[in-house]
Amino acid sequence: MSTARFTLDPAFTIGEVDPRLFGSFVEHLGRCVYTGVFEPGHPSADEQGLRTDVLDLVRELGVTAIRYPGGNFVSGYRWEDGVGPVDRRPRRLDPAWRSLETNRFGLSEYMDFVRKVGGEPMLAVNLGTRGVQEARELLEYANHPGGTTLSDLRAAHGDKEPYGIRLWCLGNEMDGPWQTGHKTAEEYGRLAAETARAMRQIDDSLELVACGSSSQAMPTFAAWEATVLAEAYDLVDHISLHAYYEEIDGDRDSFLASAVDMESFIENVVATCDHVGARLKSSKRINLSFDEWNVWYQRRHHAQTPPDWEEAPRLLEDVYSVTDAVVFGSLLIALLRHADRVTVACLAQLVNVIAPIMTEPGGPAWRQTTFFPFAQASRYGRGQVLDVRVESPTYTTAKYGEVPLLHATAVRDDSGAVTVFAVNRGQRDALPLEVDLRGLALEDVVEHSVLADADPEARNTLDDPERVAPHPGEGTELKDGALRTVLEPMSWNVIRLA
Ligand code: AHR
Repeated sequence: MSTARFTLDPAFTIGEVDPRLFGSFVEHLGRCVYTGVFEPGHPSADEQGLRTDVLDLVRELGVTAIRYPGGNFVSGYRWEDGVGPVDRRPRRLDPAWRSLETNRFGLSEYMDFVRKVGGEPMLAVNLGTRGVQEARELLEYANHPGGTTLSDLRAAHGDKEPYGIRLWCLGNEMDGPWQTGHKTAEEYGRLAAETARAMRQIDDSLELVACGSSSQAMPTFAAWEATVLAEAYDLVDHISLHAYYEEIDGDRDSFLASAVDMESFIENVVATCDHVGARLKSSKRINLSFDEWNVWYQRRHHAQTPPDWEEAPRLLEDVYSVTDAVVFGSLLIALLRHADRVTVACLAQLVNVIAPIMTEPGGPAWRQTTFFPFAQASRYGRGQVLDVRVESPTYTTAKYGEVPLLHATAVRDDSGAVTVFAVNRGQRDALPLEVDLRGLALEDVVEHSVLADADPEARNTLDDPERVAPHPGEGTELKDGALRTVLEPMSWNVIRLA
C-alpha cells in the first residue's frame, strides 16, 4: 500500500475562509418551503408556522447565508405576491416547476426564518420576466427605513425595522435555455449592469452577484462570463457558479472524482474574471459565489412525469447514500481549497429538495448522509486554509484520467488548532496518510471522525433515520511532528489536531 503525503506549514496559506462559504438555498420548489421549513399545524410549528424541529437541524448544520427564493422559480416571481396579509395573497402557477404557488410564505416569513437560524439573507431578484424597476422597488421595500410608500408598506405589513439585506443575486441561471426569460450574454450583461447601477443609486454598500454559467459544460461557458463582466465589472462583486454531480451508468470511479471538475470550473472562472479585469486595467477583483452545488441525480428527475400544478409536490427528493456523502465531502474540500476567491457558496438546497434535511408532513425531520460532512466543515472549517500540496497514489477514471486517491485540505483556526479534511476516493483499498506538521505546535489528535460504511449504498430514511452516522477513526497518531493514519476505503475524514 503506498502512502499519501502532504506538508502543513503555517507560513503557506490559501486565505481566510469567509463564513458565507457555508451557505445554503431555500427555493419555492417541491417541499423545500411548504412542509419543509414551513408547516403551520405541524406539532413542532412555532407561532409563525416554522417547524422548530427543522430550525434545530438547520442550526446544527451551521448554515450561514441562505439564498432565496430561487432558483428557476425566481425568474417568474412577483415579490409583491409574497408580502402583506396572508389571506389576500394570490395563488399563481409556477411554470418553472409546474406547481401551484399559494404565496403563504414570502419575504417576511423568509426573514423570520433567517433570523431564527442566525443566518444572513441572500435575496435574488427576477431578471427573467422583470427588470430594473421591480428590483429597485423590492430593495426599497426591504431596506429603506421608512417615509416612502414602499418602506411604509413594509411597516404596515408588520415589519417596522428594515431587513438590511446586503447580498443580492441579479437573476438566476440566465444563460440556461430552460430559464424563463433566458437571455444572451450581451442582453443579460446590459440588464445586470443597469439593475446593479439602479440598486447602487439607492445603496452603494450592497454586495451584488451577477449570473455566471449554470455549469462548466454549458456551450457558452467562459464567453458568457467574459461578456457579462465586460458590462458589469465595476458594478458587481461576485460572479455565480452552479454545479451538480451524479453517478452515471455505474461509473463510480469518475463520480468519486467529481471535485476535479469543480476545481477546474473555479480556476477557469477565476482566470476569466482576472482576464476581464486585466483588459479593463482594473485593480478590483471579482470573487466567486458558488451559489448552487451538490450531488443531484438530475437524470432521474428528468425521467419522471412532471407535476400537474399541485401545491408542494414531492420533487427532487434524492435520498443520499454514503457514497454520495463522500463525493459531497470532496466538493466541500474543493471549495475550501479555493477560499481565496470563493467567498460565498450555497448548498442547494436546504430541506427536502436535494437536501441534507428531510421531513415528513406532520411527521419527523432527519439528517441525510450529506448532513454530516457539511456540519463538520462549517464547524471546524473556519480560519486560514493552509496550502495543501498532495503527493498521492492515483487511480484511473474514464472521465478525468489519472486522479489522486487523496483529496484534502486543512484549516487553522485562531487558537492554532488545525483540522484536516480528507477523502479517500479509492473504492476498495485503505489509504495510509502521513502529514508533516512542520512549524505547527500541535500535540494532540482531538478527534478523527470517519464517514464510511461496509455498504456504500447505506442511507438514512424515514424508517431508519439513523442508519448512517460518522464513527471514530482508529490508530490515528501524532508523533515526532507527523500525523499518521490510515483512511478507510471510500471515506470522508475529519482529523482535529490541537
Ligand atoms: O436547485 C435546483 C435548480 O437547479 C434551481 O432552481 C436552478 O437554479 C438549477 O438549475
